[in-house]
Amino acid sequence: MPRITVVGAGYVGLTLAVGMVKLGHRVVLLDSEPSRLDFVVMGKVPFMEPGLEEELGHALVSSRLQCRAEPQPDDCPEFVFLAVGTPQSSAGAADTTGVFQAYGTVINATRPPFVLVIKSTVPVGTGDSIESDLARRKIEGVDVVSNPEFLREGSALQDFLRPDRIVIGAATQGAAGKVAALYGKIPAPVMFTSRRSAELSKYAANAMLATRISFINEIASISEALGADIADVAAVIGSDHRIGPAFLAPGLGWGGSCLPKDIAELRHAALSHGCPADLLAAVAQVNSGQAAHAAGMLEAATSGCTDPTVGVLGLAFKAGTDDVRGSPSFRVIERLVGTGIAVRAHDPSCSSATALPWGVEYCADPHEVARNADALVVATEWPAYRELDWLRIRRAMRGTLILDGRNYLGDLSLAALGFDYRAFGRPSRDDLGGRSENHISGDGKLRVAVEHQG
Ligand code: UGA
Repeated sequence: MPRITVVGAGYVGLTLAVGMVKLGHRVVLLDSEPSRLDFVVMGKVPFMEPGLEEELGHALVSSRLQCRAEPQPDDCPEFVFLAVGTPQSSAGAADTTGVFQAYGTVINATRPPFVLVIKSTVPVGTGDSIESDLARRKIEGVDVVSNPEFLREGSALQDFLRPDRIVIGAATQGAAGKVAALYGKIPAPVMFTSRRSAELSKYAANAMLATRISFINEIASISEALGADIADVAAVIGSDHRIGPAFLAPGLGWGGSCLPKDIAELRHAALSHGCPADLLAAVAQVNSGQAAHAAGMLEAATSGCTDPTVGVLGLAFKAGTDDVRGSPSFRVIERLVGTGIAVRAHDPSCSSATALPWGVEYCADPHEVARNADALVVATEWPAYRELDWLRIRRAMRGTLILDGRNYLGDLSLAALGFDYRAFGRPSRDDLGGRSENHISGDGKLRVAVEHQG
């Protein structure tokens, strides 16, 4: 049974540790943050991740998962995974301080031979830098391998157990084969690449996803201007097997802790190596324009109102998570508050004790955000919002504008309740005539109304 050490008990590290135990391996999970470690040792997951807590419980009961703050001499791992965060620095580049700190801790405490696997999303060349440091310090017997993750928050464990592919970037076939063997029970193709290609693949994948979203948002703006309906346009292009339907949901744009920082790092790396990366710049620009466009519509609806107020439904960067990092909702709220508009907000994943910035009032009941609101924006595509008492909301509001920031309420006929219903890239209420049955859900899945002829 291979012995694995995982450094970092965040979304990636905890999912990896629990997943590796589920695959039959023995894992030591290290995290230097006492509060996080206390949680995990008690079988609690310190963030919202469906299914993870249950599997963490099984892993702890099996005794094949040990959690501690520091490595111990008798750990003797054959594999050490670095799974710590690489946040965005002020210059846009990824901050790899945590990765090098983790590497330093491990290398001082672990006797070779072992394989050092970089799971964190790191700038291209990080594996090479670590390898050079090992050579400089004359440490032999440590293979450095890149094994990027493609987990989505909200379905991380499922994505670990059923990935589209496993990517392994290594300098030697021996090291690559050892890492591949760890995933032997997972029914997915293993793709072997150079270490630099593996590192870049992760950034390129996130950049591709962001590009698709910005593309569909740009087409949504063009649809709006030309009187077309983005739901139909996205359904049509997504049904082309060369294009596919995923990540074509228009709305407030992409956010989270990964896409924004990874696009920034990729641009930074490209520019510092003389590549203009114009497309990435445009992708980011279109994305920030979505929040500005939304805020503009909401501001217009409150103009001239006494004590202008907007209700915001949804704070998480997407449904299924309690993560508000890089959330498009906050981008809109910041703009509204900046122009003197009061904001009342709700999110099903936040507790009523949530302290919101900029004096935003938190409402424990989603209907409450509508009280005397001049306009409402639905910023996160929580399924529960589809079940709200919309007539009650309409009656509680002072104004009538509802902006569907995720284009997923179109089939609720909110206009019939007296709302001025707006979504991105859809014709005005009068033009729409309730004809389109195509519908895009927040995860990019298209519900397409297709009539077969003959
Ligand atoms: C993303 C990638 O999808 C994962 O493959 C990757 O492993 C992860 O980053 C990471 O680098 O760790 P995640 O941050 O969980 O995962 O979020 P996504 O599901 O990709 O969504 C990103 C944003 O795009 C969200 O704000 C979402 O609402 C938005 N989005 C998504 C759209 O606006 N339209 C869509 O059609 C799809």
